Amino acid sequence: NLSVTEMEAEVRRIKDKLGDRLFMPGHHYQKDEVIQFADAAGDSLQLAQLAEQNKAAEYIVFCGVHFMAETADMLTEDRQTVVLPDMRAGCSMADMANINQTEQCWDILQGMFGNTMIPLTYVNSTAAIKAFVGKHGGATVTSSNAKKMVKWAFKQKERLLFLPDQHLGRNTAYDLGVPLEEMAVWNQQTNKLEYEGNLDDIRVILWKGHCSVHENFTTKNVDDLRAKDPERKILVHPECSWEVVQASDYAGSTKYIIDMINQAETGSKWAIGTEMNLVKRLIDKNPDKDIVSLNPFMCPCLTMNRIDLPHLLWTLESIESGEIVNQIKVDQETTELSKQALQKMLAHA
Ligand code: 13P
Ligand code: SF4
Repeated sequence: NLSVTEMEAEVRRIKDKLGDRLFMPGHHYQKDEVIQFADAAGDSLQLAQLAEQNKAAEYIVFCGVHFMAETADMLTEDRQTVVLPDMRAGCSMADMANINQTEQCWDILQGMFGNTMIPLTYVNSTAAIKAFVGKHGGATVTSSNAKKMVKWAFKQKERLLFLPDQHLGRNTAYDLGVPLEEMAVWNQQTNKLEYEGNLDDIRVILWKGHCSVHENFTTKNVDDLRAKDPERKILVHPECSWEVVQASDYAGSTKYIIDMINQAETGSKWAIGTEMNLVKRLIDKNPDKDIVSLNPFMCPCLTMNRIDLPHLLWTLESIESGEIVNQIKVDQETTELSKQALQKMLAHA
């Protein structure tokens, strides 16, 4: 029953004691009470790169969600231990694509399109999905390199299957000039391809998944804001729907959003469509700018928020005592295949 101040002091003490033996990366969506202790804050691409580069730390306490910790484990060496402070910190989007459904989908699509497809998966997916993608010659993407990777995929094959976020897939392909009529949605509940127009013209097949945080930003939010405050610029993450992205002024990854706001003019007015902890931090760090959330009911990512100060301290204490809790360990075969997909992305990033 420690107070917040006592817990913070304990975290500092253990961090100081472990020194370089410990590395704590934190995603930008983490709470202030956690991110204040992160050795590096970043978006999912930056954190994947940092995990790959860090050869020194024995322990990596990953302040983010489960798929990020899995990625860190796969990109680090066997002697490095990756720990997630709360095992319940999953991702509803990653959970929308399971491996059995994906294999079934691939078999059916192969029957329809033959060997003309390559799979891509957003890093917001389980290690099993990344391994599937690696096995079939595909790559992972993040929101900051999705365009590059979709272009790369089209150099390999005529068609791509994009998992698990239909919105990032649709927004990215549309930006690259693929019209909506050439995109289809794979419905994993019915095992059917949903499309309008001609099947032979389909070039992008989108998995029917989405982010439960970013789906809370709607065209109604955009319309309300435009009516009330037409000067305010709207900046959203590409996990928002195509309609919302089209209605906004700017769309881009977490890093893009942060850079845009940091570089914005004093006095400029912004509405941001992304996760609440990040929006709040941007508001706090930019008092000279007028920033609001695009959805007035700020949208938190409940699973990111599961990582809190008590869980962080509990994990660090377990490392100090030698009885480590919540280790994330991906098996060898999954790791090898996933790494093929991850490394294609890291080579292009
Ligand atoms: P990025 O960090 O790639 O922008 O992804 C956002 C996100 O939803 C992470 O879970
Ligand atoms: Fe998953 Fe969305 Fe939360 Fe990111 S913000 S961890 S995609 S549910």
